Amino acid sequence: MVTIRKELPSDIAEREALLDAAFGNTRFAKAAERLREDRLPADGLSFVACEGTRVIGTNRLWNIMAGPNRPALLLGPLAVANDRRNRGIGTRLMRHALGKARRLGHRAILLVGDAPYYGRFAFTAEKTSALWLPGPFEQNRLLGHELVPSALDCARGLVSGTGRPQSLSWRDWSPPLPATPPLSRRDFTSSSESNRYERYRPPTEDPIFLIGKNSRGNWVVQDQNGLCGGLFIGRAAALKFALSENGNDPEAVRMVPGVLELDIATSKRAAKRHESVPLRLSSSRHGTASSLQQSRQRQKKQSRVPA
Ligand SMILES: CC(C)(COP(=O)(O)OP(=O)(O)OC[C@H]1O[C@@H](n2cnc3c(N)ncnc32)[C@H](O)[C@@H]1OP(=O)(O)O)[C@@H](O)C(=O)NCCC(=O)NCCS
Repeated sequence: MVTIRKELPSDIAEREALLDAAFGNTRFAKAAERLREDRLPADGLSFVACEGTRVIGTNRLWNIMAGPNRPALLLGPLAVANDRRNRGIGTRLMRHALGKARRLGHRAILLVGDAPYYGRFAFTAEKTSALWLPGPFEQNRLLGHELVPSALDCARGLVSGTGRPQSLSWRDWSPPLPATPPLSRRDFTSSSESNRYERYRPPTEDPIFLIGKNSRGNWVVQDQNGLCGGLFIGRAAALKFALSENGNDPEAVRMVPGVLELDIATSKRAAKRHESVPLRLSSSRHGTASSLQQSRQRQKKQSRVPA
């Protein structure tokens, strides 16, 4: 039996895996993500669909401004497990979320998605043509739904995220990560088929950046060669760093579900391996533009030697 209920902290790992399977890593590069990153979802408006103990669907709503002085919600991501689609679960997640948002007194909902699907829930692009997102998006996929009649009349301007910052309280909702051994460079060079981190091995010579949490709950980014990386306060900051370091290629970023310990080549080890100036470990919480540029320039100077 499938039930729809509020998302719990213990659902997060399964939810992330479900979203990775549905959208891949490109999901973090979407303009809508700029409205969600580093923020908590709207109170009481994160839902999962469950079959027994398995999470098979997810839907969240987020606080936004649909242009100046127009509080609204952003819906998404909505996803249903591949092997459970076309059974009405997406519809149930949508109707549940819309009903709850209405009862909580919200006035309007925006989303970026396929009009042929969301049209059945009365989402249209009719009143969203003068709204824009903080990043590239397709205007005809920016859809609106009025919970209160006329709530989106004359909506105009930048859509901005207004949810509570995640960094203040992420420990409150972030789940304990499953206890798995930390990754090390050995994991990426093993030829064993049974290596459980096999899928994180670099498919190309370009550096793959790994993102995960260490055993202390800090977000970690590092490239698979252990030449560049750092600790970050939130997933979004970690992702930004990884993308800026790899030329904005979301395909070259991997989320690590288990524990990822920072394992950067120290000056001595790097110097030994590369006989050149080693990379300075970027341990900034957010990674400043200048430190990233310097780091990239230094990285370019280095000859890349497979670990
Ligand atoms: C979109 C999604 C959530 C629908 O979940 P679901 O449980 O399969 O949906 P339902 O069973 O309620 O509805 C299935 C119907 O939606 C249609 N549908 C599914 N995705 C669609 C899309 N992108 N465009 C148009 N129609 C779509 C199906 O063809 C089916 O049509 P039918 O009722 O005429 O047979 C699911 O397909 C999914 O997770 N997709 C990947 C992630 C995604 O694209 N999310 C939405 C964008 S944010």
